[in-house]
Amino acid sequence: MQDVIEQLEARRERARLGGGENRIARQHEKGKLTARERVETLLDEGSFEEYDMFVEHQCSDFGMEEQKIPGDGVITGQGTINGRLVYVFSKDFTVFGGSLSKAHAAKIVKVQKMAVQNGAPVIGIFDAGGARIQEGVDSLAGYADIFMENVLSSGVIPQISVIMGPCAGGDVYSPAMTDFIFMVKDTSYMYVTGPDVVKTVTNEEVTHESLGGASVHAKKSGVVEGAFENDIEALVQMRRLFDFLPLSNKEAPPERPSFDLPEREEMSLDSLIPANPNTPYDMKELIEKVADEGDFFEISPDFGGNIIVGFGRLEGSTVGFVANQPMTLAGVLDIDASRKAARFVRFCDCFNIPIVTFVDVPGFMPGTKQEYGGLIKHGAKLLFAYAEATVPKVTVITRKAYGGAYDVMSSKHLRGDVNYAWPTAEIAVMGAKGAVEIIFRKDLGDPEKIAEHTKMYEDNFANPYVAARKGYIDDVIRPHSTRKRVIKALRSLRTKDVKNPPKKHDNIPL
Ligand code: HXC
Repeated sequence: MQDVIEQLEARRERARLGGGENRIARQHEKGKLTARERVETLLDEGSFEEYDMFVEHQCSDFGMEEQKIPGDGVITGQGTINGRLVYVFSKDFTVFGGSLSKAHAAKIVKVQKMAVQNGAPVIGIFDAGGARIQEGVDSLAGYADIFMENVLSSGVIPQISVIMGPCAGGDVYSPAMTDFIFMVKDTSYMYVTGPDVVKTVTNEEVTHESLGGASVHAKKSGVVEGAFENDIEALVQMRRLFDFLPLSNKEAPPERPSFDLPEREEMSLDSLIPANPNTPYDMKELIEKVADEGDFFEISPDFGGNIIVGFGRLEGSTVGFVANQPMTLAGVLDIDASRKAARFVRFCDCFNIPIVTFVDVPGFMPGTKQEYGGLIKHGAKLLFAYAEATVPKVTVITRKAYGGAYDVMSSKHLRGDVNYAWPTAEIAVMGAKGAVEIIFRKDLGDPEKIAEHTKMYEDNFANPYVAARKGYIDDVIRPHSTRKRVIKALRSLRTKDVKNPPKKHDNIPL
C-alpha cells in the first residue's frame, strides 16, 4: 500500500514540474510566475482542488508520442476566493509553450461545464503560443469547443480572462467572449496574427508590444478592461474584482458588512460643481464620496476616459456606477465611451447588479471621424443597453444633460426608476449658446441681443425645473445628500419586477 501511495506522490511531483526546472527558471527570469504559482496566488490558501493532472495528449504525429507531459500544458480545477467558489484554468507556458491540444482543450471545457452546472465564475489565465501545431485540426476543434462553452456561459456565470504572457491566434477569441479581460504590462501581448505575419501581409514593421501589448489594448483598442504592473498585482486585483460579482445570474449581488453609514452626508459635494459651466471637475470624486468606504473598482480606466464605469457598494451590496467624466472631452459621448458603457450596463443587467448613473453630458461628439466610425450604431448600443436593462436604475444629473445624450443616460424615458437632479443641473435640448444661435439666427450680428437671449435661455431652460415640472425628474436633491437618497431609492427597488417581452434574443446594434 505504501508503495502505491509513494507512486502517486511521484506522479504528482512529475506533473507539478510541468516543462521542467529549466523552463520554470526561464519563466521566472521573464518576471512571470508559473501557471501553478498564479493559481495559488489567485485562490484562498490551500483551497485549490486540481482536476486532470494526469491528462496527456493523444497525438502521435511529428514524434509527439515520445513527448508527453502530464497535465498537457494547462492546470485546471476549482477553489475559493474569500470563501466563494470559482473555477480556474491556467495555461502552462513551460509545457509546449502552453499550446492547445485536443486533450488540453477538453480539460478547459470540463471546468467550464462544471462552472455553469454549479453556478460559479470561471477565471482563465493565458500564457500560450496558440494552437498546438503538431495537432493540426484537432487543435482547431478544441478551440471551437471552448468558444462554444464561452458563448453558452455568457450571461449565466461571470467569465474573466487574465493575459499573463503571449496570447495569440486561437487563444485570443476565448478571452474576447468573456466578460472582462486584463493584461500584465510588458510581459503579455494579444493579437490574432503576430509581427511576422503582419510584415508579410501588410509590410508593416511592428513589435509584440506595439501590435498587441497592454499599452495597445488597455488604451487604444479597448479590447481589455485594465492593465497591471505584474502578475501579483493582477491576481490580487482579480480577487478584489471577484468580491463584487455574483457567482451566477441566479444570485443577487454579494453583500458584505459595511461600516459606512447609509445616511452619511458629504458637504463637500455642495461645491463640487464649478461656477463656470464649462469648467471641468472630477466625477470620480462624486463616485468615491457616494460609494461605501470610497471603494471603487474601475473598469477600463485608460480607455474612453470621458465615461467612467466600475463597481462599488452601497449598504454593502454591489452596484455598477456609470458616470460621464467632464475632465475628459467634457464628458461627451463618443464611439469609445458608448461601447465601453454599453457593455458594462449589459454586464450589470445580466448579473442583477443595480446601476447608478451620474450624468454630466454635453451631447454626442460631432465630426467626420465619429460619423465615419459609426457613432450612430455605437451610440445606439448604450441607448439599447439602458433601455433593455431591467435591474434597478437610479440616475442623478449633476450638471449638463443635453439632447439625445440626456435620453441615453438612463433617463426616465428609458425606464430609469428613480431620477434625481442637483440644483445645478441643466436639462435641455442643447446648451444656451447653440440654442440661441438657432432660434435667434437673425440677431447673430448683434452681440448685445445675443447676450440677452442667452441669459433668458439660461434662466428659463438651463435648469432642472423644466424637467422636474413634467415629472421627468423625481426630485431635485441637495448634492450632499446624494448617497442617502440613492441608497433609499435602491432600497425601494429591491423588489422591482420588470420583464421584457418574451423573445429569442434581442438584436442590439452590434
Ligand atoms: C507547439 C509551441 C507552440 C505551438 C510555442 N511552442 N508555441 N509548440 N505549438 N503553437 C513551444 C516551442 O516550440 C518551445 O518549445 C516552447 O513552446 C517555448 O516557445 P519559444 O518560441 O521558445 O518561446 P518564446 O521565444 O517566448 O516565443 C513565444 C511565442 C512563440 C511568440 C508564442 O513560441 C511562437 O511564435 N509560437 C508560435 C505561435 C503560433 O504561430 N501559434 C499558432 C497560431 S495559429 P521548447 O521545447 O523549445 O521549450 C492558431 C490558429 C487557431 O492558433 C485558430 C482557432 C480558431
